[in-house]
Amino acid sequence: MKWVLLLCALGLFLHCEARRLSRCEFVHELRRNGFPENKMRDWVCLVEKESSRRTDIISRPNSDGSRDYGLFQINDRYWCSNTSQPGKDCNVTCKEFLSDNISKSAACAKKIYRRHGFDAWYGWKNNCKGKPLPDISSC
Ligand SMILES: *[C@@H]1O[C@H](CO)[C@@H](O)[C@H](O)[C@H]1NC(C)=O
Ligand SMILES: *[C@@H]1O[C@H](CO)[C@@H](O)[C@H](O)[C@H]1NC(C)=O
Ligand SMILES: *[C@@H]1O[C@H](CO)[C@@H](O)[C@H](O)[C@H]1NC(C)=O
Repeated sequence: MKWVLLLCALGLFLHCEARRLSRCEFVHELRRNGFPENKMRDWVCLVEKESSRRTDIISRPNSDGSRDYGLFQINDRYWCSNTSQPGKDCNVTCKEFLSDNISKSAACAKKIYRRHGFDAWYGWKNNCKGKPLPDISSC
């Protein structure tokens, strides 16, 4: 058990719960999922504010009782189904947004962005919009 926790702490054990990506790991994942380079720092800022780059996070209930899931903190009111059947606008279960494989989360985040822009995320709007963005020059 200690050994597993140690590996988790070192980020070497890919299937740990509570996986936190490093900034550059996250940038590489975004590139792998086809995110454009000119918006990369906004996405990094957004996800650092929303989830601290953790894949497994579920928010506390919002005022309407909905919850937000995963790296991009995507809401179950509109985008994912919190039942065991995939559904809503991204046609997925919310649980799929908690995976270390970010492809479902990433595809849904892009869809949200196409529809609403970065303003869909308070984390971005309040902390990133018009502010200095994270440095990713070494990634
Ligand atoms: C599923 O989401 C709806 C709407 O956001 C919410 O009212 C309901 O409590 C949620 N159910 C569970 C099991 O989280
Ligand atoms: C939703 O996803 C499932 C597979 O997870 C697929 O079988 C189904 O056709 C999809 N539905 C829509 C409307 O895209
Ligand atoms: C991630 O999941 C997608 C399908 O949801 C799959 O096509 C892809 O190969 C997976 N990537 C990895 C690295 O397992």
